Order: sequence, then structure tokens, then C-alpha cells
Amino acid sequence: MSWVVVKGQDLISIKDLSKEDIEYIFKRTLEMEKLLVKRSKLLDDKIIATLFFESSTRTRMSFQSAALHLGARVIGTDSAEASSMLKGETLSDTIKMVNKYADLIVIRHPSDGSARLAAEVAEKPVINAGDGANQHPSQTILDLYTILKKKGRISKLNVYLVGDLKHARAMRSLLYGLGMFNSNVVLVAPKGLEMEKQVVEEVKDKFSINIEQTNNLNLKECDVLYVCRIQKERFVDPYEAAKVQKEFRITEDDLKNAKDDLIILHPLPKIDEIDPSVDKSKFAAYFEQAGYGVPVRMAIIASILGR
Ligand code: NCD
Repeated sequence: MSWVVVKGQDLISIKDLSKEDIEYIFKRTLEMEKLLVKRSKLLDDKIIATLFFESSTRTRMSFQSAALHLGARVIGTDSAEASSMLKGETLSDTIKMVNKYADLIVIRHPSDGSARLAAEVAEKPVINAGDGANQHPSQTILDLYTILKKKGRISKLNVYLVGDLKHARAMRSLLYGLGMFNSNVVLVAPKGLEMEKQVVEEVKDKFSINIEQTNNLNLKECDVLYVCRIQKERFVDPYEAAKVQKEFRITEDDLKNAKDDLIILHPLPKIDEIDPSVDKSKFAAYFEQAGYGVPVRMAIIASILGR
């Protein structure tokens, strides 16, 4: 049975979805884009809890905006400090309560596996908005949607994933999503920040796509350049993070031999890894990408709530 027709399902990992599920979300996102100007009462009897125990701007606000666009009411917490977690309450106890307060729970937490734990405790559906370095499935759906919108297809494009591939959950989820849609992937990471071998092997085995790995960036064949920041909060030694951050920066110079229709994506926030002059170039699509966060998350929430 497909995920989308099962009311009340959790979305914890991109692996919970089939390609058909994601295509269904794309179709619904197109409808949701039309609702953005009209507002809707589709979920006006629902309460959505957004529990963010780790910092967030886009993901938290776009989930909240998505819920409000559909007429739902939103409760939640914006930081671990503002919740009873500061007093030492376990995640499991917190979720047991929130389960009684809301119809759907969106959670971000610094520990890998936390969203899965929340889903096990909660009877209400849970959406993982990022658990440590592990998974960020709604980001992947919006990344794939952006690629489809901008390029007309995902299959067979040369997609370069560039940055801290060791710690970035957005990259880990996206690699799997690109596998599902049969892209060619090039992984470009500073030395020591490569994607975990096991993650790469799993995608290769499952989808038989081409995955190349390198420490050097050459954009000649690139269709989609997807960059992420150095995830400094996940480094044991902050000095190490600062050192890599300095060495790693995309400039207009790197784009000189790029294809004319190259697009540059980034989950944001961007720090120093893209020179600000690139923002004005025809290649930069990351702010448009962030905008799709709202209709994509409207489609996800509505589907899970069976509307
Ligand atoms: C990403 C995240 O939190 O994983 N941001 C986001 O959700 N838009 C990427 C990041 O923080 O680097």
C-alpha cells in the first residue's frame, strides 16, 4: 500500500516513501501553489504542533506557514531552552503530552533517531524536520520539486552535492531521493567530510545510479549544483570546522565554465560557502527553492492528515 493513501502515517526518513509517493506530493504541491493566494479551510479543525529543539528559520516557519495557509492552528516550541527539556524532561515524556494536544507533530531535534523515537511514542503522525545528521525528508521533497520545476525533469541530470557531506542530513536524504529519480550524482567534499561509505553504497545498490566522488570541483558537466554549509555544530573540534569553512567557497570564478542553464541550490542558511556575488547571478535558485517549502509542506501535511 502506498504511503500517501494511508492516513496517519509518519514521515521520518525519505526511505519511508516510494517514488510514486513523492510524485503524488508533487502533484498536490501544484494545487497547493494555487491556494497560496486564496487561503483554505482544509485543515480548520486541526491543531499542528511544531517542536523545534534545534535552531531553525525556514523549516519551522514554512511548516507553520503551511499549516496556517490550510486553516490549521499551530502550537509548539522554538527551542529546547523554552521547553521543559531544559528541566530535564525526556523526549519520550514530552511527546506523550503533545500527542494529546495536537493532531500532527513536526519535530526537529539534535539527536539522530529522535524523530523515530517520537513516532514510536506518539499515536498521532510525526514528521521529521531534521534529526541530527541523519534525515530531513521534507527538505528532500522540496529540493526535488525545485529541480523538477526549474529543469523539467530529475532523471539523468548531473547533480553535484558539495559541502560537508559527512554531517549534513539534507545531503544524506537528498542522495537517496536522487537515487529514486535516477540522477547522476557527483559528491564533492573537503577531505575528511565525505559522505559515509555505507550511505553511498546503499543508494548505489538500491538504484544502480552513477555516483562519482571527488575532492575537487569542476562544473563543466554540472546541471544542478547543490551546496551546503559546514555543519559546525556537529564537529567535535570547532577550530577544525572554522578551518575547513575558510578553505571552501564557491565564487563567480568557479562558474566561468558552467553550463548556461546550471542552477545552484542550497538548503540555507548559507554562511561563507557561496560568495554573495553569486546571489545575483542567473544560476542562483536557492531563494526560490526556499519559497517552495510552503506549498510542499502544505501537500505533505494535508496528505498525512488524509485531506
Ligand atoms: C538544513 C538543516 O537544518 O538541515 N537547513 C534547513 O532545514 N533548511 C541545512 C543546514 O542547516 O545546513
